[in-house]
Amino acid sequence: MHSRIAGTGRYLPRGILTNHDLAKTVDTTDEWIRSMTGIRQRHFAGDGESTAEMGALASIEALSAAGMRAEDLDLIVVATITPDLIFPSTAALIQARLGARNVGCLDLSAACSGFVFALATADGMISSGQCRSALVIGSERMSKLLDWNDRSTCVLFGDGAGAAVLVASRERGVLSSSLHADGSMPDVLRAPSKQSPFLHMDGPVVFKFAVKGFVEAGEASLLANGMEPGDLDWLIPHQANLRIIEAATKRLKIDPSCVVLTVDRHANTSAASIPMALDEAVRDGRVRTGNRVLLLSVGGGFTWGSCMLDWRA
Ligand code: ACO
Repeated sequence: MHSRIAGTGRYLPRGILTNHDLAKTVDTTDEWIRSMTGIRQRHFAGDGESTAEMGALASIEALSAAGMRAEDLDLIVVATITPDLIFPSTAALIQARLGARNVGCLDLSAACSGFVFALATADGMISSGQCRSALVIGSERMSKLLDWNDRSTCVLFGDGAGAAVLVASRERGVLSSSLHADGSMPDVLRAPSKQSPFLHMDGPVVFKFAVKGFVEAGEASLLANGMEPGDLDWLIPHQANLRIIEAATKRLKIDPSCVVLTVDRHANTSAASIPMALDEAVRDGRVRTGNRVLLLSVGGGFTWGSCMLDWRA
């Protein structure tokens, strides 16, 4: 048995913060943010837009696209580093909102690699026959981890949620996945620390590591599937920074026109960035049946990984 994605969805909070808005409160400029990161704006969650609520709203879209009801699900996996509570899990809170009674629920923490790790986990559960369908969600309220006086971090992130329904399939939709981590550098990117409750990041070190992680995961994925860069229809990388994506894409020799980008409008939404970009590209007709789609992630931990999809929704 294999698995394939049967439907996707996303939820973007109503609030939008442009670079110009941020420049009114911290010492930065639209020009600096755009040229250094590619970001123009980010959405931020307001009252009532909790991590669970955003995840549930994205899930309703994904279930509807898959033509399924919440009662049909066997498993809910939520990738998040911004859960509403330590427990119950965000997955359990979403389960209750969806009315998916008795469905197994778990949260997964792999920062910006969370969705790729969650998809690989759900694919493993389906491929091994332990369940027939899974809702895989990346939902993040990054705004609550940010020090809004720290210009080096507060301009980079946004809030949102993306979801995918994975179902058992005779055809192979998830062709391969790879998960990697190196936990030896927690001080480079972490939250919280002894000194602060907020996200702390050594930007230049993260930048170099992110390019290296994308390239490693991308090359391994192409090799595992016997593919050349030109065989790819779409690359959907974690949307951290346009310059990171461009540097990695160039080294991977992937045609830039195959890259799905949302970082300009969403900023870095951690585990939500890949499923939101995937949903956008599916709904606007870019991703079509038979397309080879590579999901590539790098995140705090450090974590990095990939999923190669043969699109069969
Ligand atoms: N506006 C204006 N100036 C700024 C801002 C800002 N928002 N932020 C930092 N600066 C200044 C710094 O204070 C510094 O000034 P100085 O030279 O007077 O000391 C100068 O810009 C350069 O700072 P660096 O941190 O060395 O700049 P760098 O060239 O590395 O760019 C950036 C910073 C854009 C954050 C880059 O390091 C980066 O993108 N790193 C990756 C960060 C990232 O994507 N993190 C996401 C989490 S991990 C992930 O998702 C994979």
